[in-house]
Amino acid sequence: MTIVVTGGAGFIGSNFVLDWLQFRDEPVVNVDKLTYAGNLGNLISLKDDHRHIFVRGDISDTALISRLLSEHLPRVIVNFAAESHVDRSIQGPGDFIDTNVVGTFRLLETARSFWTSLPDAQKSGFRFLHVSTDEVFGSLSHDAAPFDETSRYEPNSPYSASKAASDHLVRAYHHTYGLPVLTTNCSNNYGPYHFPEKLIPLCIHNALAGKPLPIYGDGQQIRDWLYVKDHCSAIMRVVDDGVVGETYNIGGWNEMANLEVVKSLCRILDELKPRSDGRSFAEQITFVKDRPGHDRRYAINAHKIENELGWRPTETFQSGLRKTIQWFLDNQAWVDDVTSGGYLRWIEKQYGSGLDR
Ligand code: NAD
Ligand code: DAU
Repeated sequence: MTIVVTGGAGFIGSNFVLDWLQFRDEPVVNVDKLTYAGNLGNLISLKDDHRHIFVRGDISDTALISRLLSEHLPRVIVNFAAESHVDRSIQGPGDFIDTNVVGTFRLLETARSFWTSLPDAQKSGFRFLHVSTDEVFGSLSHDAAPFDETSRYEPNSPYSASKAASDHLVRAYHHTYGLPVLTTNCSNNYGPYHFPEKLIPLCIHNALAGKPLPIYGDGQQIRDWLYVKDHCSAIMRVVDDGVVGETYNIGGWNEMANLEVVKSLCRILDELKPRSDGRSFAEQITFVKDRPGHDRRYAINAHKIENELGWRPTETFQSGLRKTIQWFLDNQAWVDDVTSGGYLRWIEKQYGSGLDR
């Protein structure tokens, strides 16, 4: 038995591959294009593990994916591969359409052709799990009920629109061709190997570098935070027992305004790695221009996966955040590696020189 993971050198994908091989003895073929967000350094602990087969490649490359499927005969494909950063999608949506829409379409086509060719026994056990986001549902007002699996799709950014399109394609491949698909829509993740363009790792990195912690607009936008390892365990539950054709919302019941997230992060850093002048890292908080079309609130109702599949998150926001900060403190070499070169050009483009001190 083997599974194929796409995008397994990114933030969530690499955590998933590491956890899968820690808890199960089933090999993983990991296909990743290694964009700026992909990093083989995340998987260094697997370098002598013959159960991890890494292939640099694009999900759009039908010939490559087709060959890998025939060679390894996976029982499951878990599709993490995507462009994932909302701000980058605003600055340049093209890559998001190429990978998230066209790439997912090509991967579905390749998977369908492989699945059709399987003998009946393998055919019925095959699963295509598509990893998606709560952002496809758009923005909630302050007192609206959290998103559930029946919430309307109302994507507002090029990123969320591209993910919504991919979700629709996945759904259509089930309804039209019978491909045994599963879709998960998860809230904001955080944890080890989180690329420091996203709020939490960016603020940990900037705090330690003595730079401003940029808060968009008034900082009152709400996200629902989930520790990445809890997302990975949820995906494993869906792979194992998810009902074909169904979607599952995944979230941590941790709604929090961005400003409060960054203040919590500063309080933990003040304790674990106090500033040399004895002042709080919170003094580095700086309000900057808002993100265009910034969604005000996301919140996930995770009752379906909890009640039907018995999944529960293990970390609270405070315990997960503490683990995350400790991980970044212990892994400065990883941070130094990913914050050189192209990263600096992105920070300059997104924030101008306003973050230099
Ligand atoms: P990421 O940007 O850290 O990693 C994406 C990975 O995909 C990278 O390793 C990249 O090299 C690879 N990739 C990109 N284009 C590819 C292509 N055409 N072919 C093969 N590989 C390609 O993203 P992430 O935060 O780990 O997110 C993974 C998935 O989870 C995405 O689909 C995202 O939409 C979804 N998601 C993310 C979050 C979150 O909070 N980060 C929450 C919910 C859902
Ligand atoms: O909700 C799930 C989504 O969470 C995933 O689908 C995306 O792939 C993932 O990137 C994440 O999207 P967000 O846009 O919510 O994450 P980000 O870390 O970029 O921003 C979190 C919040 O913090 C958001 O309201 C914008 C704000 N923010 C972000 C940055 C980078 C700031 O205030 N300042 C910043 O510098």
